[in-house]
Amino acid sequence: MIKPINHLVSIRDISYEQRMLIYELAKRFRENPNVFNRKLKDKKFIIAMWEPSSRTADSSRRAAKDLGADAEIFHNFGAFSSEIKGESLRDTTRVIFSNYDCVLMRHGETLRPNKYGEMLYAPQIVVETIKEFGLKTKCVNLGTGKWEHPTQALLDEFTILQRHQAKLDEKEWVIAFVGDIQNSRTIHSLILLLTDYPGIKYYLVCPEDHDLPEEIQKRVGVSGLNFLGKISDLCQIAGEVDVFYMTRLQRERASKTSGQKNMEPETYVRNFGINEETQRHMKPDAIVMHPLPRYAEDPDTRQVVPCEIPFWFDEDPRAVYFRQADNGYFIRAGLFLAMFCHFV
Ligand code: NCD
Repeated sequence: MIKPINHLVSIRDISYEQRMLIYELAKRFRENPNVFNRKLKDKKFIIAMWEPSSRTADSSRRAAKDLGADAEIFHNFGAFSSEIKGESLRDTTRVIFSNYDCVLMRHGETLRPNKYGEMLYAPQIVVETIKEFGLKTKCVNLGTGKWEHPTQALLDEFTILQRHQAKLDEKEWVIAFVGDIQNSRTIHSLILLLTDYPGIKYYLVCPEDHDLPEEIQKRVGVSGLNFLGKISDLCQIAGEVDVFYMTRLQRERASKTSGQKNMEPETYVRNFGINEETQRHMKPDAIVMHPLPRYAEDPDTRQVVPCEIPFWFDEDPRAVYFRQADNGYFIRAGLFLAMFCHFV
């Protein structure tokens, strides 16, 4: 009997079996969407985004609507809500989120105070408040500051399984996390999830001051994941890697982080991007993933900049990042079905 899923705050909140159930439901939904189009009838979802989101917000809304739920997106939620007047997340949860069956939230700040003044991750405060007031609302974390992004980890695992199902059970299976590992909440959730696969070995390929945060290191360290080393040039190890997990440099976070410098795009891409040499070294059955967006234009000037995955690589059969993004819709539908329909 698989336990029902109440909330999804950290990827470690759900078990391997619960994840496989989500993927099974996602596949059934993909094959036969009409069977599911009234399953969440009468359910109300609020998608509260404190930070910019396009694919995550949109795929969540479409998935909820296509299952029959009513789903509203609020972008820039912090500015729109009474948070700007100093309201606590606890009160917002009690007053606003209590009216919904599900709150899907993306919070920009990594930590917020709860009612005791303890600094917690924002969705943890929402769940704490749901329990305090006995609310029916369920909470899904769609990305919290520099912490975690569990629904992305689900679609990432699903994408890896699609291409490398057999390899996951092999002993020598190598994933390289590449780029801004410190600020990449998608990497944090995926690396925590992969602790379920004792055969996996991993490289961290990142600038000196963009390493895996200590909290995540501690949580990964106690499990069986095999660390192969920290590297500062992707080309060095490209020939050994089965899965490349690329990321952009999250410039918007570095400015808030003391001591962290933003590299020039040229420098970042030279060591932490795909180029012709990396491509030449890659195994024929490797896959290249990226949570997207990739950094291809300067947002101030709209000038083209060197990108961590150049557009020409899109033609390469090893590029799976668009398929990975497309999986977001199916996986989020699978998650909502698992949460609200108690399939076992
Ligand atoms: C990621 C995020 O928001 O953390 N995007 C996403 O949800 N697919 C990655 C990023 O912003 O770089």
